[in-house]
Amino acid sequence: MRLVTLLGTRPEIIKMAPLLPRLDEGYEHLLVHSGQHYSREMDRIFFEELSLRAPGVHLEVGSHPAGTQTGRIMERFEAALPSPLPAAILVQGDTNTALAGALVAAKLRSQGVLLVHVEAGTRSHNPLQPEEINRKLIDRVSDLLFVPEERDLENLRREGVDLSRAFVTGNTVVESCLRTAALSASRQTPARYGLAPERYAVATFHRQETVDEEPKLRAIYEALLAVGRRLPVLVPLHPRTRKMMGRFGLGLEAPGVRFIEPLGYVDMIDLLGHSRFCLTDSGGLVEEAAVLGIPALVLRTETEHRQYVECGIHTLVGSDRARIENEAARLVEDGETYRLRRTVSVPVRRGAPEVILQTLRARLGRLVPAAEPSA
Ligand code: UD1
Repeated sequence: MRLVTLLGTRPEIIKMAPLLPRLDEGYEHLLVHSGQHYSREMDRIFFEELSLRAPGVHLEVGSHPAGTQTGRIMERFEAALPSPLPAAILVQGDTNTALAGALVAAKLRSQGVLLVHVEAGTRSHNPLQPEEINRKLIDRVSDLLFVPEERDLENLRREGVDLSRAFVTGNTVVESCLRTAALSASRQTPARYGLAPERYAVATFHRQETVDEEPKLRAIYEALLAVGRRLPVLVPLHPRTRKMMGRFGLGLEAPGVRFIEPLGYVDMIDLLGHSRFCLTDSGGLVEEAAVLGIPALVLRTETEHRQYVECGIHTLVGSDRARIENEAARLVEDGETYRLRRTVSVPVRRGAPEVILQTLRARLGRLVPAAEPSA
């Protein structure tokens, strides 16, 4: 049976990594890369570090406004599909690449092509967030939905998605993270940056809603400078963030805060795992922090991962400068609070790749495009 996977950004590569070699073994499997991310440090380094084979087809789309980017990926992806068409197209997550793949697959439904969505059902409930729009649209047209947590099923149910197509699997990022943490043990990454274990913080932020508005980005930047007066902060800069900081005149030279190029996965996981805490707006990083038992100050007002806030390891701080400073001060100076945060029981579900593969194997043959329920 023929399958096609479309990916194109850093998080998609990381989260699909445990599945791709297994899909190669079990199926005639074509891997297509959209080219949404294209620089070595946002793309190729992850293929190398995670020992993934190169994509069979590269669409080389690059950066554009969202509509153009999505449209170009659709056009080139459709043209790149093999003949005869695959039985299924897999997409992961909530990027423009994933949306483009989903829309192409949905249009081929009448020709028997099924759409499989990995990391379905997660919601921030922020209707303005580009990723939330992408997720909802993808889930609406998916034939098979792999959902990280039970609570994500509830999101789908409320939106009227047929739950017989949805399976709770856990999130593949857990396996990516733990395998990489094992590899990184001897790397001494903090020492390479002159940092001592538990005596520094790591910060990443790149979301459009975090970095594209000057007051928010400035507040986070100033909060980081304040945190940097208590302990060193290392900031691997996403290209979008670098661009917006330049536009708003926020300098890269700041005492206590070191801005660096984006890191590879092994270094990132090693740095995160030995940090005192992280500050981030990334969905992937909050999961990785939870898996490694590292507290996160989440630079957002909502999260798709409420379970980590509820269990007490992560805190939502938004872009509120005083809140970020206060929460960071507690994690640095209040040893009791810090110890408690490091030792809470974190609900981490293992084994997502295996559950996904088994379900795929069991379900693919039986799925047929379904009629919509009548109104
Ligand atoms: C995308 C995803 C987001 C994901 C993030 C991870 C969407 C809507 N958003 O956001 O969900 O969390 O990736 O990184 O799909 N750029 C480079 N080099 C690269 C890639 C991008 O310099 O390799 C620059 C481009 O100038 C571009 C900017 O980064 O303007 C943003 O890239 P874009 O593809 O728009 O999305 P991300 O912000 O990375």
